[in-house]
Amino acid sequence: MNEQVVLVTGGAGYIGSHACVELLQSGYRVIVVDNLSNSKIESLSRVKQITGKTLQFYQADIRDKKALAEIFAKEPIATVMHFAGLKAVGESCEQPLNYYHNNVYGTLVLTEVMAEANVKQLVFSSSATVYGEPSCVQYVEDFPLGAVNPYGRSKAMIEDILRDLSVADKHIQTKSPWKIALLRYFNPIGAHESGMIGEDPNGIPNNLMPYVSQVAIGKLEQLAVFGDDYPTRDGTGIRDYIHVVDLVKGHIKAIDALESEKFSLGGCKAYNLGAGRGCSVLEIISAFERVTGRKVNYRVAPRRAGDLAEFFANPELALKELNWKVEKNLDDMVADTWNWQSKNPQGYV
Ligand code: NAD
Ligand code: UFG
Repeated sequence: MNEQVVLVTGGAGYIGSHACVELLQSGYRVIVVDNLSNSKIESLSRVKQITGKTLQFYQADIRDKKALAEIFAKEPIATVMHFAGLKAVGESCEQPLNYYHNNVYGTLVLTEVMAEANVKQLVFSSSATVYGEPSCVQYVEDFPLGAVNPYGRSKAMIEDILRDLSVADKHIQTKSPWKIALLRYFNPIGAHESGMIGEDPNGIPNNLMPYVSQVAIGKLEQLAVFGDDYPTRDGTGIRDYIHVVDLVKGHIKAIDALESEKFSLGGCKAYNLGAGRGCSVLEIISAFERVTGRKVNYRVAPRRAGDLAEFFANPELALKELNWKVEKNLDDMVADTWNWQSKNPQGYV
């Protein structure tokens, strides 16, 4: 068992809560820092119920340097998994300053406090959105970056900051260099198989899977399929959906890699976390209907501004260097989404 202490920023959120389960089940001690701006404390009670283990929770904003420094002074933290941030693309276009302040400034404060506490192992939640519009649909880590909205640019800026930090550190040949994994998620969906934790979006969901499941349960009337005239196999958009439990397993593998020989001199490296295959919107709907036996009422609507026709991950680097690949398939993602949705029709109330 591993007694190492991991600080999870944003640990009460959708992906962070699943990471807490995986960390606790792998023997890590877990400390969560979350301001609960987009989550409920109930998610952490559920994490404790699933694992039969406890964790330490601090309700704090990562931009509050004093609060963070106190936590680092009190707790023997070895690694930080940094999920805290705002993530809605549309909202980021309306409130860019809020996004840059929360995501970029928040990460600056976090890394300053980490440096002062000499905690220099970091796993960061990046996104496939940093790629922008490459000419090839299967994204490789060394593609040029070119995010097209403030949310994506906030992730790209953070990646730049973390790369600069790592390079500067190498120059001074420090004994404890920064070791940083930038994990570029494709489209995380699904929920823990217990159905006790899952995605609980505020208001009307922006993303496909929570929208589909809320239509299936009768909370929403009809799904709008954004465009059926894309140059794809059935005309609808294709994405690389990844089960959230597979995704968080990739984070544990990232910690293992940061502690291995490969990172002995430090470094900052990006890895795609995706399945390496895409599913269309109509394929998601039909899998949902088949697996759950529920009808998904939908209509075809115009394309959504800013959407690409198709992209998916090339996940070979994560396989080679993190020894990670997805284990779950689309039916698992649908079944687990539905299990969570039907057991928690109103989310965490
Ligand atoms: P989420 O909103 O469910 O979780 C984020 C958590 O961070 C929430 O609990 C929120 O309360 C907290 N938080 C936000 N700002 C904070 C701050 N300043 N201080 C402390 N806590 C703060 O989102 P998620 O889907 O779990 O995403 C986690 C991370 O993964 C985010 O950084 C997101 O950008 C990234 N990501 C998500 C997706 C996705 O599709 N869900 C895709 C790519 C990347
Ligand atoms: N879609 C619909 N109807 C909906 C919602 C979505 O047809 O109501 C379609 C979209 O047009 C797209 C696909 O379903 O073809 C997936 O859309 P999502 O909104 O679920 O996901 P995106 O690929 O647009 O974006 C998500 C996150 C981004 C992140 C990206 C890659 O929202 O923040 O995945 O990780 F950058």
